[in-house]
Amino acid sequence: MIRKYPNLSKPIQIGNVTFRNRMFSAPMGGTDITADCCIGPASKAFYEYRAKGGAGAVTVSECTVHPETDGSHAYRLDLKVPDSLSSFTYTADAIRRHGAIPSVELSHSGQYAGTYLADKNKKGRLAQWGASDGVRPDGVEVKALTQEMIDDIVKAYGNAAGLAKRAGYQMIMVHGGHGWLLNQFLSPYFNKRTDKYGGSLENRCRLSIEVLKSVRSAVGEGFPIEFRMSGSELFEEGYDLAEGVEIAKQVEPYVDLIHVSVGTYQRGFGDTHPSMFREHGCNVYLAAEIKKHVNKPVATLGGLNDPEQMEEIIASGKADVVEMARALLADPYLPRKIMANQEQDIVKCLRCFTCMAERAATTTRRCTVNPVIGRELDGMEVTKALQSKKVVVVGGGPGGLKAAHTAALRGHDVILLEKEAQLGGILKSEQAISFKHEMYELSGTYAKQAQDAGVDIRLNTPGTKETVEELCPDAVIIAVGSSPIVPGIEGIRGDNVIIINDYYLKKDQVQDEVVIIGGGLAGCEGAIHLAWEGKKVRLIEMREELAPDANVRHRPLLLKELEDNVEIHTGLRAAKVTAEGVVCQDKDGKEVLIPGHTVICAVGQRANRQVAEQLLDTAPYVVEIGDCVRASTITTAVYQGYHAALDI
Ligand SMILES: Cc1cc2nc3c(=O)[nH]c(=O)nc-3n(C[C@H](O)[C@H](O)[C@H](O)COP(=O)(O)O)c2cc1C
Repeated sequence: MIRKYPNLSKPIQIGNVTFRNRMFSAPMGGTDITADCCIGPASKAFYEYRAKGGAGAVTVSECTVHPETDGSHAYRLDLKVPDSLSSFTYTADAIRRHGAIPSVELSHSGQYAGTYLADKNKKGRLAQWGASDGVRPDGVEVKALTQEMIDDIVKAYGNAAGLAKRAGYQMIMVHGGHGWLLNQFLSPYFNKRTDKYGGSLENRCRLSIEVLKSVRSAVGEGFPIEFRMSGSELFEEGYDLAEGVEIAKQVEPYVDLIHVSVGTYQRGFGDTHPSMFREHGCNVYLAAEIKKHVNKPVATLGGLNDPEQMEEIIASGKADVVEMARALLADPYLPRKIMANQEQDIVKCLRCFTCMAERAATTTRRCTVNPVIGRELDGMEVTKALQSKKVVVVGGGPGGLKAAHTAALRGHDVILLEKEAQLGGILKSEQAISFKHEMYELSGTYAKQAQDAGVDIRLNTPGTKETVEELCPDAVIIAVGSSPIVPGIEGIRGDNVIIINDYYLKKDQVQDEVVIIGGGLAGCEGAIHLAWEGKKVRLIEMREELAPDANVRHRPLLLKELEDNVEIHTGLRAAKVTAEGVVCQDKDGKEVLIPGHTVICAVGQRANRQVAEQLLDTAPYVVEIGDCVRASTITTAVYQGYHAALDI
C-alpha cells in the first residue's frame, strides 16, 4: 500500500531499538497511584490503550527516583516496596504486547516537591530541596541540596533505570525540563550555586550529565536514553533558546534522543501545554533550531494533532519524532489511523484541558471527546449486543451522535432524527470562533463515524412524539439539547442584538464596537474571538467573577486573554438595549451606558425540558442525555451518550 504519511509511518532506530513509527506517546500521569506509589490497574490500562492505538513508544509518567528529597511525582520504582517492580513489569508487558516500546520517565521535582499533590497540605511535611536556598512563590522555603544528597540522587537515577530495564522498559526518559530538579540546575534563574554545579553553563549542565552517566552505566550501551528538556524557559530570567541549544550540545554525547519541550510548568502552563489560544505546533521552532546543532535524533511536541503538519515536520527535517499527549487521549488510535490513511476518522483533541482539570478535581482523568479515558478498565472496546434492537436517537448534537455511533457499533438498527438541516447541535455555533474550530469539526467527525457505522441520519426531521412512535423503536435516546436564555429586557429583540448561538450565521452584521452581555465561558470566548478580529469589545457581567464555569486549567489562560484584549465591566446588570449600547445598573442602582453598536447576548442555556418530556413514553426503554437533562458540558453529553448506547 502507498502510505499517505510515509515519514510519520517510517520506523526509526534509536540506540539499538527500532520503533515502529515516529509517533510517540508523551508522558502522562496515571490515574490510580496506589498508597505505596505503585502503578494501579487503571493506570496500566490507561497506558496500554495508547500502545493498542499504534504509538511507536508509550512513556509511563514521572517516576520519583529519590523520595528522601522529593515528594511530588507519582510513582516509585523501589525493591523495598513489595508491589513496585511487579506493577512496573505488568505495565511494560501491557505496552509491549501491542508492539509499542515501553519507556519510563525518571524525575525529581526538586524545590517544587508537593506542588503536584491532591492534598497540597502534605507539602508541609516534605522538605523542598532545590539548586539553591530560597523561597518559593507560595512562601515555602527551599534548601540547597548538599553534595552528599546530589551524589545520592545521581545514584538513585541509576538504580531506578536498572530496575526499569529489568521490568521490561526499553527506553528511559530523563526529565530535564518543565521546571523540575534538573531544569532547576540548568536554569540561571533557579541555580545560584557557587560550587561546580552553578555559574557557567557547563557547571549548570553537570547534574544532568552525572544523572545521564549514572543511567547509562545501569542500562548499558545501546539502550536508548531520551532527555526531555525545555528548549527555552520562556521567561526573562530563565534561559533562552540560544542557551537551550548549548544545553542540548552538552548533553548530546550521553543521550540517544533529545526531546524538546518548553517552559516551566509553574510559570507558563500554557506554553508547556499549548492551549486552544495558541497555534498548533507553536513550539516546533525550538526543536528545529536545536536539531541544526546536534547529530542525535530530536523529538518535538506541543499541541500537535494534524497529520499533514506532523508529516511536514518530519519530512522537512525539523524533528525526527513527534510526540503527543492530549491528542492521544482524544484518539489513542491516531497513529494507527495515520498509518492506514484514515486521517478523516481521527477524533481531534479540543485542547479544553478537561484531562488535566479532572486530575486536579478528582485525581482521575477524563477526556471530553473520549469517554473511555480514565475508565479503560471498564472496557476499551464496544462489544456487540446479544440482540439487535431498533434504536431512535432524537437530536444530532455531540451526545446524540456519540450515542448513535455507539449503538450502531453494537449491532443495533439506529435512526437519528435531527430537526435542523445540519448536524452538530450547539457545536454549530463554534464554527465562527477561530480557536474553537476543532469543537465544530468534532460534530463532522462524529457524524462520519455514525454514518460509516450504518446510522440512518434524517435531517430536517423533528423528533416529535408522533414521528418517533411511528418508527416503533425498542429504545429511544433523547438528546434534544438546550436553548439560549434570552433575558426579558427592553430592546433585546432589536436588530442590533445577536444571540451568541447565532453569531456564526450573522457574523457579517457585527459592527466595530461590540457589547457582550454575559461573562460565562461562551461570552468570554466570544469576546476574545471578536477582539482578535479587531473589534472593540466590552463585556458586561453581573457577578464579580468571570467564567466560573471554565475549568481550573483553561480559566487562567482565558482570563489572561481577556485582560489583554477585552474591556471588562463586572458588577453591572444589563437593563436595556438601545442603538447606543447597553444601559446597565450598577450595585447602587445607578445607570451606566456601555457603548457599542452590536450587542451579543450570552447569558447561558436552558434545558429543552418540554421537548424531552413529550418523548418519555415513546418506547419501552427511554433514556435522556446531555443538555436536555441539565445544560452542562460537551464532556457530559458525550459520556452520557456513549453509556446510554452501551445500556441498550
Ligand atoms: C493529562 C496529562 C498529563 C501529563 N503528565 C505529565 C507527566 O507526568 N510528566 C511529564 O513530563 N509531562 C506530563 N504532561 C505533559 C505532556 O507530556 C506534554 O508535554 C504536554 O501535554 C504537551 O503536549 P500535547 O500538546 O501533545 O498535550 C502531561 C500532559 C497531560 C495532558
